[in-house]
Amino acid sequence: MKIKDKVVVVTGAASGIGKALAARFAKEGARGVVCADLNETDARAVAAGVGGMGMRCDVGQEGDMNALVVAALEKYGAVDIFCSNAGIIGRHGLDASLKEWRRTMDVNFMAHVLAARAVVPVMIKQGGGYIVATASAAGLLMQVDSATYTVSKHAAVAFAEWLSVNYAERGIKVSCLCPQGVRTPMLLGPTGDRKSFLSEGSVSAEDVAAKVMEAIETERFLILPHPEVAEYELRKTTDRDRWLGGMRRLRAAILTDPNMRGLD
Ligand SMILES: NC(=O)c1ccc[n+]([C@@H]2O[C@H](COP(=O)([O-])OP(=O)(O)OC[C@H]3O[C@@H](n4cnc5c(N)ncnc54)[C@H](O)[C@@H]3O)[C@@H](O)[C@H]2O)c1
Repeated sequence: MKIKDKVVVVTGAASGIGKALAARFAKEGARGVVCADLNETDARAVAAGVGGMGMRCDVGQEGDMNALVVAALEKYGAVDIFCSNAGIIGRHGLDASLKEWRRTMDVNFMAHVLAARAVVPVMIKQGGGYIVATASAAGLLMQVDSATYTVSKHAAVAFAEWLSVNYAERGIKVSCLCPQGVRTPMLLGPTGDRKSFLSEGSVSAEDVAAKVMEAIETERFLILPHPEVAEYELRKTTDRDRWLGGMRRLRAAILTDPNMRGLD
């Protein structure tokens, strides 16, 4: 799909990848960029910077998601591309509370379902549309130090695949973004100096946005800003026991080296 003159909605647009996506869509000539985030102040600031519309939206809330799509339609008359990008992470094992599990599943997974329910009928009526779901390499592989993140991102990938299969003939294109480390507040912390085993080999949010543009233009499903993830996934599916052994060694390294901490 060509991006020029399209109306785009980005969730999680106040920071990191979402912010970079909003800027890049504007640069590519989108005619409307809607920047949605829980952080309304920063969403509005990003929108002002790209000449778009900013609004508060909690992507885990059905009412907020529906209101986002309605607001985009009222302002621009269409939604051509919807980037379901907002996400959260906590470092959680079996100690994660049910509340933490539910919140992570709501934001990292159910938000994609709520987005699709709100926007797919609109896109079908328009004659087609594009959904970009931000999952993570952890949705194909694993976030060793977070069960909630791993499971919610696997669900996000599964839903994006399901949507692609079931709605292609009604004109809905789907891409699924699965990066490893991206230098955003999620990886680097609010002050930008947090150490993580994912920092090495990490890419910028702008690099990721460029890959998303390419994928939309060429209509490719899987977006891998770190191409090695394809090789890791191949190894996982070829010999799962060997792969699990490798992940156990990675876990041991993370536990013994404070500089090897993952996302939180
Ligand atoms: N940074 C990485 O290394 C990395 C790697 C793989 C995947 N991802 C994914 O990329 C996406 C963007 O993350 P980022 O790295 O830009 O992080 P970030 O923390 O910089 O930005 C996330 C944004 O999402 C917003 N948000 C959180 N909960 C929300 C909610 N309920 N409703 C609306 N907005 C909400 C936050 O306010 C924030 O502005 C996430 O889905 C994340 O899981 C990030």
